[in-house]
Amino acid sequence: MRWPNDVQIKEVGPRDGLQNEKEWISTDDKVKWINMLSASGIKEIEYSAFVHPKWVPALKDAREVGKRIIRNPNVTYSALVPNEKGLEHALEAGIDMASVFMSASETHNRKNINKSIAETYPVLKKVIEGAKQEKKRVTGYISTVFDCPFEGRVKIDDVLSVCDRLFEYGVDDLSLGDTIGTAVPSQVEMLLEEILYRFPNKNIIMHFHDTRGMAIANIVTSMRYGVRRFDSSIGGLGGCPYAPGAAGNVATNDLLYLLNGLGINTTIDESKIREAAFFIQRKLNKHLPSRSLEYEASQLKKSRRYLQENQRNVRQTPRKREIIYVFLKNQYDKIRSKV
Ligand code: HMG
Ligand code: MG
Repeated sequence: MRWPNDVQIKEVGPRDGLQNEKEWISTDDKVKWINMLSASGIKEIEYSAFVHPKWVPALKDAREVGKRIIRNPNVTYSALVPNEKGLEHALEAGIDMASVFMSASETHNRKNINKSIAETYPVLKKVIEGAKQEKKRVTGYISTVFDCPFEGRVKIDDVLSVCDRLFEYGVDDLSLGDTIGTAVPSQVEMLLEEILYRFPNKNIIMHFHDTRGMAIANIVTSMRYGVRRFDSSIGGLGGCPYAPGAAGNVATNDLLYLLNGLGINTTIDESKIREAAFFIQRKLNKHLPSRSLEYEASQLKKSRRYLQENQRNVRQTPRKREIIYVFLKNQYDKIRSKV
């Protein structure tokens, strides 16, 4: 098989990554961090969520963040929008793209957005129409496309009926979420067989959480089926507040290592992503789970230690010379005094 020439990554760390964090990240730091991401060559950033601040307090400053970030014209900025109120706030703060969201399983949908699937459709239809009137692109997230934390395995037909409905309402793209990070490649194959039979691959995004360490395997499987768009989060930060125990998204750092190794173009500067990961790691005061990041941090530590030792040697050399000089001079003076 041939790998794709290029793959598009949407960085969801500022939204999916932060939404579950207990540690409050100040608006200033969020803005600084998103600006770092904007300068990394990444083409899409989901910068926050216009949901109810009581349910996701970590993102209660979405409007301020949206107004203060420096917009890079090469980047598409999106945010989660659950309803018309969210859309009103998002348009005021500035979005290029609205991300509506719902689940393929009834219980997760209710826990997440407080509505049944049937009650959600008219709400999202209005948001999609409103966003389209403002000439914004719309992505439809579908959660629990493989497994639901409350109902177990989700039927592919249930996923397809949500896909049909959201495309019918006018979303441009669909992002299919392994919300709890339990899928294995055979599940991905079965779903993509059906999805890509119905919808063009250019409009399909895969959104893998990495709870069981399967995300990279699932991305490789998706690429084999022709999918070229993935969501990921810096350092693997994140999790869904309504999916107990679920880990963060696949780490952008791990995904970039894979894509660069395969010779697939992403336009992203890996070193800038690494700096952005170190920045948020420091602010959260915890280690992010990305294996690539951990490895890179250990390499940097090693080279810093080497550099420090070298500097010590450099500092020591003149001192050693001085001691040898004094010693030789003493010897010389002694010999002379005897002569
Ligand atoms: P609700 O309580 O059902 O809303 O919340 P409501 O329409 O009944 O209104 C109740 C009150 O909330 C009203 O205020 C509204 O004005 C207010 P009151 O009149 O009582 O003073 N309200 C709002 N306030 C601010 N912003 C809003 C808003 N909407 C209503 N947008 C709602 C429904 C969806 C808003 C709520 O349940 C909520 O915010 N849920 C949080 C959902 C969430 O953020 N989940 C995590 C993200 S999804 C995810 O992570 C999965 C994904 O990554 C893909 C994957 O991994 O699978 C995308
Ligand atoms: Mg998610």
